Amino acid sequence: MRVLASALLCVPLLAFPALAQTVPSGEQLFRSQCGACHGVDSRNRVGPGLAGVLGRRAAAVESFRYSNAMRTRAAEGLTWDEATLHAYLQAPKQVVPGGSMSYVGMKDEARLNALLAYLKENAGS
Ligand code: HEC
Repeated sequence: MRVLASALLCVPLLAFPALAQTVPSGEQLFRSQCGACHGVDSRNRVGPGLAGVLGRRAAAVESFRYSNAMRTRAAEGLTWDEATLHAYLQAPKQVVPGGSMSYVGMKDEARLNALLAYLKENAGS
């Protein structure tokens, strides 16, 4: 399935090489934007391991020391689905004011969607 999907994806990318350059793959984006602090495995780094994060309540990794701000938002019911992750990754400080994730946010919608698709495939529960 994955091979077929990537083969199909290659067709338009080959036809429009300029497009292929403007939006890096979700995996590339994850590595360059998130990889210093997170993996899609369950190992904590600067940030919590993201294995299974999609569909999970916020601040659910027990071995990770979340900020009080994140714990409070979790107690209020914050759960990571596509919509809440979209908002958080676009503007972390707006969704979790006072949170400890030092990331400015990904403003570019096409990049953010590519990143979310990668997370859905690799960090879903
Ligand atoms: C400089 C380090 C850093 C970078 C870069 C970073 N994060 Fe984080 N991330 C953190 C920290 C620290 C937390 C915990 C935040 C808190 O407790 O307030 C966190 C929390 C999260 C959470 C909530 C996890 C949970 O269990 O509730 C998600 C989801 C997340 N980050 C995804 C990402 C993604 C995707 C990227 C790349 C676009 C990214 N982060 C970039 C450090 C980082």
